[in-house]
Amino acid sequence: MPVPARTPVLLRHPGTGRTYRLVPLDTLAPTPAVLARLVALCNEPEVFRWLFAARCGDRPYGPEDARGWLAWGSAGWLAGGPCAFVALDEDGLPAAACDLQSADPEPEIGFWCGAAHRGLGTPMVEALAGLARVAGCQGLSARVRPGNLRSEALLRRCGFARIGAAVGDASLWHRPLVGG
Ligand SMILES: CC(C)(COP(=O)(O)OP(=O)(O)OC[C@H]1O[C@@H](n2cnc3c(N)ncnc32)[C@H](O)[C@@H]1OP(=O)(O)O)[C@@H](O)C(=O)NCCC(=O)NCCS
Repeated sequence: MPVPARTPVLLRHPGTGRTYRLVPLDTLAPTPAVLARLVALCNEPEVFRWLFAARCGDRPYGPEDARGWLAWGSAGWLAGGPCAFVALDEDGLPAAACDLQSADPEPEIGFWCGAAHRGLGTPMVEALAGLARVAGCQGLSARVRPGNLRSEALLRRCGFARIGAAVGDASLWHRPLVGG
């Protein structure tokens, strides 16, 4: 059962040179500043549209949603998967996040990135792939809903190829981690 290492990974934004630390989500305490940042990021139009609109409906993403996500992250690490990570900025506040959604040998990944940190998504997902490879994963998969062109662009940059349709209307993407 591949479980990635918990050592923080240093990320560098390719455009701005800003540095971030990618850390396991269960290390992030639900302080007021952390919850406020998560609420702000998850209500950004693009993140909300693609990840939270279906769940939240007409209401915004709130502090209880953020608390729930942190609790989900802690439970996942305790159980050996799903394994979620958060990219922290220089102030130790969330900027982006990603996860391996199961302990499968070829887990599905998830990811989002705050608008002020645009361009961090690619190094973050590359780092996630590196952690997954070292943990013994053989590949990664991703599902993308129709029209999510930024997600598709990120996946292409990170070496994923579209391999067909997933259940529902999403497209299915895959990146091998062993054997090329
Ligand atoms: C999808 C998402 C994570 C992409 O994040 P991102 O940080 O913008 O992604 P990328 O790393 O691909 O960076 C995009 C921008 O940075 C630039 N960039 C990326 N890598 C770069 C590099 N190595 N050098 C220079 N510029 C780079 C790109 O040119 C691009 O700019 P552009 O859009 O103006 O062309 C983000 O849009 C998001 O959170 N979306 C909502 C949630 C979501 O859809 N999640 C995925 C569900 S499947």
